Amino acid sequence: MSKHSKKGHPFGAQSRKESKKVSENLAEAIAFITRFASAPTNIGAVFPSSRDLAEAMLHGIEFQPGDVVVEYGPGTGAFTELLLERLPEGAEYLGIELDSHFHGHLTRRFPGRHFHHGSAVEIQSLLEGKGLGKARLILSGLPFASMPHHVQELILTATREALHEEGTFRTFTYPICWYMTGSQRFRKVALDHFDDHHKSRTVHRNIPPAKVLSYSKPVRKK
Ligand SMILES: C[S@@+](CC[C@H](N)C(=O)[O-])C[C@H]1O[C@@H](n2cnc3c(N)ncnc32)[C@H](O)[C@@H]1O
Repeated sequence: MSKHSKKGHPFGAQSRKESKKVSENLAEAIAFITRFASAPTNIGAVFPSSRDLAEAMLHGIEFQPGDVVVEYGPGTGAFTELLLERLPEGAEYLGIELDSHFHGHLTRRFPGRHFHHGSAVEIQSLLEGKGLGKARLILSGLPFASMPHHVQELILTATREALHEEGTFRTFTYPICWYMTGSQRFRKVALDHFDDHHKSRTVHRNIPPAKVLSYSKPVRKK
């Protein structure tokens, strides 16, 4: 009998779990780089976002059963994993992913969850088609800075319409891209659609470092 046969692994179950996670992260990073190489403008990042950025994206958000949560551009699932860990039973999740490889990956990684293969522009018809109400949280991984103006406008208009009166729209940006034309234009268009907004501190444990931008609808005047 091998000296390791009782536990089946020289470093035990915890290490096995950790090394599986490392392999998964590596596979996701490779998938990401490959997709970026084939469609750089659509993917918009070379590496998937970190767990720290996922935490910052969800900071202060408390979910209730019955909430509808939509994620744009989940990619390999960097935010999805944490989001689904935190969603209570009875809350609805809808992911919208444009890239067919990522879409296939997400449906395999999160069985039982709904991922639509298409564009964030379709959010309203998707929510209506599924009989869901307005979204409490719309979490975006979209590369807004590399999108043409009219696509930014279309997505932000649809987002505003699909968001609950007390809902939150969150996205992230890279400070190194802050002064890029597309990034500045996105922030300007977003301020035309949303009233309140907040910018987080820089999340340094992400490649590259990133900030979370959080928007909500204007408060209705009585
Ligand atoms: C920067 S990656 C972010 C992926 C993931 N959320 C993360 O943070 O690691 C952008 C993602 O948005 C997707 N995407 C780009 N345009 C889209 C659109 N119009 N609708 C839905 N997804 C889109 C890309 O395919 C890609 O998965």
